[in-house]
Amino acid sequence: MKILVTGGIGYIGSHTVVELQNKGFEVIIIDNLSNSKIEILDSIEKITKIKPAFEKLDLCKKEKLDEFFKKHKNIDGIIHFAAYKAVGESVENPLKYYQNNLVSLMNILENMKKYKIKNFVFSSSCTVYGQPEKLPVTEKSEIQKANSPYGNTKQISEEIISDFVHSNEELKSIALRYFNPIGAHKSALIGELPIGVPNNLIPFLTQTAIGIRKELKVFGNDYDTTDGSAIRDYIHVVDLAKAHIVALKRMFENKNEKNFEYFNIGTGKGNSVLEVLEAFEEVTKVKVNYKIVERREGDIEKIFADTSFANKVLKWKTKLSLKDALLHSWNWEKNILNLF
Ligand code: UD1
Repeated sequence: MKILVTGGIGYIGSHTVVELQNKGFEVIIIDNLSNSKIEILDSIEKITKIKPAFEKLDLCKKEKLDEFFKKHKNIDGIIHFAAYKAVGESVENPLKYYQNNLVSLMNILENMKKYKIKNFVFSSSCTVYGQPEKLPVTEKSEIQKANSPYGNTKQISEEIISDFVHSNEELKSIALRYFNPIGAHKSALIGELPIGVPNNLIPFLTQTAIGIRKELKVFGNDYDTTDGSAIRDYIHVVDLAKAHIVALKRMFENKNEKNFEYFNIGTGKGNSVLEVLEAFEEVTKVKVNYKIVERREGDIEKIFADTSFANKVLKWKTKLSLKDALLHSWNWEKNILNLF
């Protein structure tokens, strides 16, 4: 089976390529390297002993993409990661997000139809739920108005895919709504590689622990949670990567009940920022300098997944713990300087 992975050099993409190759899939990656480094290809090869095929390509360039599909025949499925993902930047520059995330998606879908590629996995986000009224959040929870253009691109993308496969009965798609992916491969050869100052908690935390940043700012301690800091569902990126493979298999085996399905991909457990910090210090024995500051604009108080639908239907469940993820993130942080 040959799988096209867009954004396959990125954080979640690279871990998914490793899992695909470990399971015997042939992989071809498209990535424009706008938020990733080409050296990751060598790391993937070191882990799996296979260098995946790679084309540097911008999915918004329609003609180039068409040439790609003419050259690479017999693709059985697509996993589409390639997208911009910085919430704050999307508020400052919304058109950049709508342009890139939506045009690239539509170009890929168009080619899917043209080249008769039947199976499509989409990288979605729990951001589509906003702050849910009831927790844990299930797939039946209401989709709320997105609180950033980035979040809106995820909602609109799901709608585009749903309409598209509805009008092309032979095509199928599964959207995976990720909660908060963290961690890295246990080899410490691939992981999250933020360019510039990280927005997300874990890379900021590990960069503080290693001395690149002076202190971690904990955004708010006055939320309605046990310790006042916000709660998220942190999932190990390798567990998340594996969910893509079961989603593909479900479509290959024609087990899907509708031609567009979506699943929550999380651990089912919420942890506060301060709990994460404490677990990190415990598992790494490194003290982290931190300060409580104001809440971050746009943040929600708490969210964690009800994963029973994915557990039952996809027969998928997380295996790695928060502590595994934090240790792996730390090992990765310590190895980054050796790699680049
Ligand atoms: C955000 C997006 C999510 C997106 C993800 C990846 C929303 C609501 N969420 O998740 O859709 O997929 O980014 O880019 O749009 N924190 C600190 N200090 C820091 C950084 C973060 O205290 O320096 C806290 C945050 O306030 C939050 C938690 O850590 O409570 C996690 O933050 P982060 O890693 O940025 O992820 P989300 O905001 O949950």
